Amino acid sequence: VDGTRGEPIDLRIRNGEWSFKPGIKTPTLGINQDYLGPTIRTRQNSQLNLSYQNTLNEQVAIHGHGLHVPGDVDGGPQLAIAPGDRWQPALDIVQPAATCWYHSHTHGSTGHQVYRGLAGMIIIDDEVSDEVPLPRQYGIDDLPVIIQDRTFDSQGRLVYSLQDASEDGWLGETVVINGAISPVARVPAGKVRLRLLNGANARFYIVAFSDNRAFHKIATDGGLLSAPVPLTQMEMSPGERCEIIVDLADGGSAELLTLFEDEIEDAEGIVGSLLDKFSLSKTPQPEPSLTLIVDRTLPAHTAPLPDKLATIVRPEQSEIVGVRDFILDMEDGGSNHTGHGGHALMDMTINGAAMDMNVINERLEIGVWERWRIRSNQGAHPFHVHGCSFLIEQMEGAAAPPDQQGWKDVVVLDDDDWSEIVVRFDHPATDQYPYMYHCHILEHEDRGMMGQFTVN
Ligand code: C2O
Ligand code: CU
Ligand code: CU
Repeated sequence: VDGTRGEPIDLRIRNGEWSFKPGIKTPTLGINQDYLGPTIRTRQNSQLNLSYQNTLNEQVAIHGHGLHVPGDVDGGPQLAIAPGDRWQPALDIVQPAATCWYHSHTHGSTGHQVYRGLAGMIIIDDEVSDEVPLPRQYGIDDLPVIIQDRTFDSQGRLVYSLQDASEDGWLGETVVINGAISPVARVPAGKVRLRLLNGANARFYIVAFSDNRAFHKIATDGGLLSAPVPLTQMEMSPGERCEIIVDLADGGSAELLTLFEDEIEDAEGIVGSLLDKFSLSKTPQPEPSLTLIVDRTLPAHTAPLPDKLATIVRPEQSEIVGVRDFILDMEDGGSNHTGHGGHALMDMTINGAAMDMNVINERLEIGVWERWRIRSNQGAHPFHVHGCSFLIEQMEGAAAPPDQQGWKDVVVLDDDDWSEIVVRFDHPATDQYPYMYHCHILEHEDRGMMGQFTVN
């Protein structure tokens, strides 16, 4: 839907019924549709007016992930919409072009609501993105690709349980792309832009093509990179977005793979050359998650990729005032928790505290750069911050690779390593409507790996 006209966009949060598998329906949640919500398109320097109506009989908060907007319209858990109520945030879009998203952020039930379908994409355009020669025909050579994984029972119904999730979160068995299993898209014989969103609750993916072809990453979470980065594979953690360009000028087809990183690592120890792995091992060639097939009747974008995309200005070291440390931890809850599956009862904390709706964990000053040092004492976690885009200075103890040197709002932490970001907030978030930082494994978030902060 076009969000640049100013009048409010009606977004009905509702129950649905969706067939992931042909002929089998399962209860789902959606926004204006049975599963997921419409792509909302907006522009820098315009006002995006949304009008959410909650027709469910549970409360729902809907967060604009990646948006630089004040805390009172951010859609965090403090902004839950009661059953039957409406919420009409007016969002002043000031940030540059980016692929963002919106999703449930309801206290304690984010995992379950996103899993059932409460998520959608937000695309922001600006003058820079208008002018760089990149594919931009939505649905033709510019495609939203929401990657999720789902588990179905023997009747084909969705299965989800926060209680039974492992310590790694709820990992689905089947990849779904925009709600479909192994869909096929007809694309022109030219460059195709994929706006990838890892919208899974907990799964880290390795994204590659089945023929190991090169592609170019052009954007991270918060917008265009300074230059395209050639890759043959990349990791995507939950919550992350990126835009890639794949060239189909030669015709034929391309098969996008979204491999389960945990399984590759279990099998081989490290993520090496995927192609070798599949040809050498007994592992069957994985099913493509999305197949692109050339249709020569469609208008093709064949211009060469520009060398320069956007200008990214990093702060001077002297501008970075203040350092904050965040330690993410998972610990056994101890003997007072009894019953099923030990993992589910782990305490999930940041700096020793689990999320408390009545506690503000950090207080920040508006417009000031800070260095945040974040570390995991156990496990891998995608750390996300509301209300901003940040720059990664260090990732898992090393310098950020070129394809991570753009604006981000998710940074990956591994066991025992520090990641470092530099971050600045330009909008206020009050005690009543604070921002959140949290692990984007939704089961970790729902179990408390989240904190609240104000910006004044
Ligand atoms: Cu995408 Cu606080 O979340
Ligand atoms: Cu967010
Ligand atoms: Cu986590």
